[in-house]
Amino acid sequence: MISPGFPADMPLFTRALAQFGAQVYGVSDQPPAGLDPEVADALTAYLPVADLWDEDSTVEEVAQWLEERRTPVDRVECLWEPGVLLAAKLRERLEVPGLTVDQAVAFRDKETMKQVLDAAGIRTPHHYRAATTSQVRDAAERIGFPVIVKPIDGAGSADTYTAHASEDLDQILDAIEHVPEVSVEEFIEGEEYTYDTVCADGQVLFENVAWYRPKPLVSRLNPWISQTAICLGDIATPEIAVGVELGRRVLVALGFESGFTHMEWFRTPSGEAVFGEIGARSPGGRLTHGMNMTCDADLFTGWAEAICTSRLSQDTTKRYNAALVFKRAQGAGTRITRIEGLEPILVEHGAHIPLIDLVPVGAPRRDWRKVVTGDGWMVVRHPDLTTTLHIADRLASEVRVIAD
Ligand SMILES: Nc1ncnc2c1ncn2[C@@H]1O[C@H](COP(=O)(O)OP(=O)(O)OP(=O)(O)O)[C@@H](O)[C@H]1O
Ligand SMILES: [Mg+2]
Repeated sequence: MISPGFPADMPLFTRALAQFGAQVYGVSDQPPAGLDPEVADALTAYLPVADLWDEDSTVEEVAQWLEERRTPVDRVECLWEPGVLLAAKLRERLEVPGLTVDQAVAFRDKETMKQVLDAAGIRTPHHYRAATTSQVRDAAERIGFPVIVKPIDGAGSADTYTAHASEDLDQILDAIEHVPEVSVEEFIEGEEYTYDTVCADGQVLFENVAWYRPKPLVSRLNPWISQTAICLGDIATPEIAVGVELGRRVLVALGFESGFTHMEWFRTPSGEAVFGEIGARSPGGRLTHGMNMTCDADLFTGWAEAICTSRLSQDTTKRYNAALVFKRAQGAGTRITRIEGLEPILVEHGAHIPLIDLVPVGAPRRDWRKVVTGDGWMVVRHPDLTTTLHIADRLASEVRVIAD
């Protein structure tokens, strides 16, 4: 398991593997003393490597370590985006099944990804790879405005811009000067969703669709917005089924077999599903917890079972919508001073708010650009989508976390 203790959720996956009877060998750059005790307990052994992101040296270091211990390895797992390629390199070195290096590149490089999908006849935004300012301008002219300009391997909507006309590109090109390579894409109008799965041996064992409100790029550009993501209780409605079908085709085209996937897609006003991006890993932003709440299941354990036995034995029938609402503190202070507006909503709807995890008064505020959860999150769970949205919108607009 690469990076068994970081970021959030990794300890839960690591522990689930151990609970399933797997012997888990952890590899990361955290000093052993820095490991969460529950993670340390779940590991059979742990190797802190010299430089985790020097992929070739890490692969050799890990291979030698395992050879010295005469440890036969069945699988190499990593659920953290920056380690997906490293995991694939290690698999090839150790000759274990799972995503190959070529396959992993198609999950990491947003241009290769779309080329593979285009070849399979999947609707992607019209796109070009660009490494120079003139390539960016050429691509934008060929695609036609508006266009999106974003890093080829970006995350968290960082360095992602919309150009409505060719004049906008001057400022954008300045802002992305430090980004070596970008993807220039047709701007897709519409709602944005996820399609997340747990798979084994090429079979989809669990599916989730989450609806982002608003689109992540809009939240990124407007700090006053509380991003909401709703894990839907019904993914068979016609509006959503188009995305599920798209997602299944994407997994086949990319040859994904076992583990978690996290895809994003758009639904245009005409109802067409358009591919956005995909990762060979679990989603961030607490979405796995949201999925668990839609069906009272535990997909941390579910993933581990799928990896170890190719099955998912829990009942994962969806019964609820689960809306995750993320808060960002307002004000110029560095510590949380007050939380307002929560009480009246709890009086009315408390029974449908199973989780409130806000940064407590007195604690330092967090940097929402770095952590999706920002200054805390809350969950609304209800069988009816309209009711779920109503309560989630109240938490988003009426609860104020203040740092003044
Ligand atoms: N072609 C497009 N049309 C419209 N909006 C887009 C397009 N590409 C990206 N976006 C917006 O920018 C956001 C970030 O883009 P994308 O998901 O590709 O990058 P990311 O930074 O890897 O995202 P993540 O936050 O999931 O790590 C998207 O969630 C979407 O809101
Ligand atoms: Mg994204």
